[in-house]
Amino acid sequence: QHPELDRLLQAYELTSKMYHFLLKNTEHGKPAMEYLRSRGFSDKIIDQFQIGYAPNRWDTIVQFLEKRSFDPVEMEKGGLISPRHEGDGYVDRFRDRIMFPIWNRNGKVIAFAGRILGEGQPKYLNSPETKLFNKSRTLYNLHHAKTSIRKLRQSVLFEGYGDVISAWEAGVQNGVAAMGTALTEHHATMLKGLCDEVIICYDGDRAGQAAALKNFPLLENAGLHVKVAIVSDGMDPDDFIRQYGAERFQRQIIESAVSTVKFKLIYLKKNHILQEEEGRIAYSREALNVIAPLSSPTEREVYLREVSAEVKVDFETLKQECNLLRQSLQ
Ligand code: UTP
Ligand code: MN
Ligand code: MN
Ligand code: MN
Ligand code: MN
Repeated sequence: QHPELDRLLQAYELTSKMYHFLLKNTEHGKPAMEYLRSRGFSDKIIDQFQIGYAPNRWDTIVQFLEKRSFDPVEMEKGGLISPRHEGDGYVDRFRDRIMFPIWNRNGKVIAFAGRILGEGQPKYLNSPETKLFNKSRTLYNLHHAKTSIRKLRQSVLFEGYGDVISAWEAGVQNGVAAMGTALTEHHATMLKGLCDEVIICYDGDRAGQAAALKNFPLLENAGLHVKVAIVSDGMDPDDFIRQYGAERFQRQIIESAVSTVKFKLIYLKKNHILQEEEGRIAYSREALNVIAPLSSPTEREVYLREVSAEVKVDFETLKQECNLLRQSLQ
């Protein structure tokens, strides 16, 4: 059908196998293997996710593809190799990095994410967008997860590749991640085609929590019900699983996911000192801004009762204020 795309797919498949082989079976791959081990990656998971290693050389993949008669111009356009800065010829795009293949929903490798060993910038180097790879339409791990997502009618949205992988090993097999960039409408539509509910499980740091908040409207507008799984103490899901294990992750994080309203209240509360009057007043005001627009009286009452207890203000007082605010909104 599309010979050029087929050749590129074949090149990605072979390159991915090569990286995996280099990681597992060569001296070059040893430090990378040690790094993965130190982070708790098992052999089984390294195989399942075809994790590999791009050696610290200029032309491993250039030569590998040349020997197999791939056209270097096509391979460069396809994002596998880069033009040399000076002079003619090509160099490998990824050097001395842990390689995570990125699959399309049919399980074909269409890109890579390469992680530096240890500290350094950029932490992840991703393939460029190509005819095969459109970041805003790709969800990492969707090909593995789609069966479980359909069955459970639910998916878990993570921030990072490592989170998806650790969660998978911990028994959460409906996990996917956007490609480092922002979540898009396309992503939301793709998920809506498979399930009704998304649990956002982003990193527990400020950036992660802010990103979670930002994604509510996008997912809700696609018709998805949204919940949020909150990871404690600034850890990310991967860190949490490595530290506390699969069972606690399932019970304490995934199964304890909260509604978006509850999440907003928790998020707002962090900015205030509830031991002080001013803090309680300011938090009440912000909380009422979240609660007043809710259309269900039951929902409003449930959250008002929670806030009432937190700020030590009588429920009826808060309800009055909430109703005043509702009127002003109409
Ligand atoms: P994080 O900084 O949270 O990394 O970025 P991480 O996934 O926890 O990685 P480890 O545990 O340090 O190895 C979350 C995601 O953002 C994208 C990647 O998809 C990453 O998994 N990202 C991050 C990039 O694309 N490039 C970067 O330089 C950093
Ligand atoms: Mn293998
Ligand atoms: Mn993060
Ligand atoms: Mn992270
Ligand atoms: Mn991490």
